[in-house]
Amino acid sequence: MENYPEKKLAVIGLGYVGLPLAVAFGKKYHVVGFDINQKRIRELKEYVDHTEEVSPEELQEASGFSCTTQLEDIKDCSIYIVTVPTPIDQYKKPDLTPLYKASETVGKVLKKGDVVIYESTVFPGCTEDECVPVLEKFSGLAFNQDFYCGYSPERINPGDKEHRVYSIKKVTSGSTPAVADMVDRLYQSVITAGTHKASSIRVAEAAKVIENAQRDINIAFVNELALIFDRMNIDTQEVLEAAGTKWNFLPFRPGLVGGHCIGVDPYYLTYKAESLGYHPEVILAGRRINDNMGIFVANKVVKLLSQKGHAIKGASLLVLGITFKENCPDIRNSRVIDIIQELKGFGLEISVYDPWADPEEVQHEYGLTLVEKLDSKYDGIVLAVGHQTFRNLDLNSLKKENTVVYDVKGFFDRRVVDAKL
Ligand SMILES: NC(=O)c1ccc[n+]([C@@H]2O[C@H](COP(=O)([O-])OP(=O)(O)OC[C@H]3O[C@@H](n4cnc5c(N)ncnc54)[C@H](O)[C@@H]3O)[C@@H](O)[C@H]2O)c1
Repeated sequence: MENYPEKKLAVIGLGYVGLPLAVAFGKKYHVVGFDINQKRIRELKEYVDHTEEVSPEELQEASGFSCTTQLEDIKDCSIYIVTVPTPIDQYKKPDLTPLYKASETVGKVLKKGDVVIYESTVFPGCTEDECVPVLEKFSGLAFNQDFYCGYSPERINPGDKEHRVYSIKKVTSGSTPAVADMVDRLYQSVITAGTHKASSIRVAEAAKVIENAQRDINIAFVNELALIFDRMNIDTQEVLEAAGTKWNFLPFRPGLVGGHCIGVDPYYLTYKAESLGYHPEVILAGRRINDNMGIFVANKVVKLLSQKGHAIKGASLLVLGITFKENCPDIRNSRVIDIIQELKGFGLEISVYDPWADPEEVQHEYGLTLVEKLDSKYDGIVLAVGHQTFRNLDLNSLKKENTVVYDVKGFFDRRVVDAKL
């Protein structure tokens, strides 16, 4: 790789975000992907990406990319890109543990002149106020004298084969004007969609967190409409279709808001706002509405079952889909579990079918055993996730005479379902 730029990159955390990024850079630069998950690294060395974001061919073609669990292997890098998770804890407060740990790792190998770029979604100020002190402590170096930082949020959408890491415009920033230029040039060299250089790291951090908060609030609005129109016996989808003919009506659809981005990131912003004495109302109201949609769906299903003459306790119900979104194996923070738990509380017997989800992971995360084959008939069916593979399902073979079908996603033909969100 003699012709490749001399800088060597390390990507810390090879998940949904880190791996596609490392592979994109690996087409042009020497990139060492570092992860604490040994199984992940073993699989990647065999060209297997269980997240299905990067194909075996792409992994093989990224000739500059290698991966490791060993700190030793990232010692001679000069640019460190951090893409570790930024979850919330049980009280919905930011859990910065992975970010602190990754900063500690980088701090141990940081050298004069190195640049650390964070990509994880955080609240404004997190990079400079939370991560930089850890880098300084473990490296013994001084920020903006010996080493520098950048922040470039990731916008990928798991399962989306059209919007890939290189085809999405990327916001960049740096801790000094010269570093901002350098970070911007680095991303420009692999992102074909181009970059937007923000004026500061805080602006770039804020931009990312509000992108997801905006989406959350827009979905909360249509979810609230669904709750209102349900009481009026008006079909929400039909209302949205009609209203959508106006040029500036935004095309959002009601639904569950799960995953570790849209349902989580707004809490990073509200946490920071509250620490400064401002109590956000709109953002948290949206969160409350979205977090309660599973309970609404479950109660609606129980009413429909009862109306069709089913005894609720012991009724058999099939849930189609457990991942947090369609055509994606990620089950983390799936809000389908809210529907299942609420229905279990009514005494229903729940079976869950999802060919995308890893049965072991589902067992570990939610204590549920996935149904392997669909060969029974059910009193109720809930389509919770719109996987393309469900298009081939023969719904009739799963139905009894008076089976209730509820469609959370507006996925099936309106004529074959009893109700939808
Ligand atoms: N997944 C998305 O759609 C998406 C989109 C945009 C932004 N983001 C943000 O990007 C960040 C990463 O998300 P993700 O979905 O890729 O997470 P992920 O859980 O898929 O991957 C994170 C990886 O980091 C590794 N890791 C954890 N701690 C580590 C440490 N201390 N050192 C080295 N590796 C470590 C994990 O083993 C895992 O492989 C988060 O802040 C997330 O909010 C995610």
